Amino acid sequence: MIRLDKFLSDNANLTRKTAKQALHRGYVTVDGVIVRKGDLKIDQQCVMLAGQQVSPIGQLYIMLNKPAGYVCSTVDDDGISVLNLIDEPWCEQLHIAGRLDKDTTGLVLLTNDGQWSHRITSPSSKCDKTYEVTLDRPLTQELVEVFANGIMLNNENKPTKPAQLTILNEHRAELVISEGKYHQVKRMFAAVGNHVTALHRSRVGSVRLDGSLQQGDWVRLTEQQYSSFF
Ligand code: URA
Repeated sequence: MIRLDKFLSDNANLTRKTAKQALHRGYVTVDGVIVRKGDLKIDQQCVMLAGQQVSPIGQLYIMLNKPAGYVCSTVDDDGISVLNLIDEPWCEQLHIAGRLDKDTTGLVLLTNDGQWSHRITSPSSKCDKTYEVTLDRPLTQELVEVFANGIMLNNENKPTKPAQLTILNEHRAELVISEGKYHQVKRMFAAVGNHVTALHRSRVGSVRLDGSLQQGDWVRLTEQQYSSFF
């Protein structure tokens, strides 16, 4: 059951205000009867707006290849939100399941399904994420064990969970972590005296960033991809 004004704003590209106006003006029918009150609870009824049926959008599961310079916030307060890259009437319904920093690129998952994003971001779900990291200073092999054992970050009271570091060359590595602390990857390398100069997320759980997806582009996840988190 959902309020009629919310149903209209979620599914007919209206704001709460314009949904109310449409109702007051008698543009909305429910099972053929004009309804002017937004607080009517509806379920499976046929809702029409100005003679057009409004169908529920349903659950949305999106993979975005985030370019640098966009913020993972649903409002443009601290910069341009990644939501601006999803030019769809329903984009306002989305929230971000695991944020990236403004200068980080790569895989961002978005959804309108709160339970699903909770599964990805909740610390108890221990969802693995893979990052490709470029570093200012040369990497040393000892770091593999240091990260596997967990390290203390500034302002934390527990060490990080075991992380798998694979050194690709002197300045590039792949890091798999199962947590999502604030600026975690940058802080882990800072804690060992290095500095991240570029960061790219290539995987969340079993979902890998689609290699054919250009920066700034997005696709819907397949059922197999989104159901892998349930
Ligand atoms: N860790 C960071 O430091 N930044 C990100 O954007 C993601 C993980």
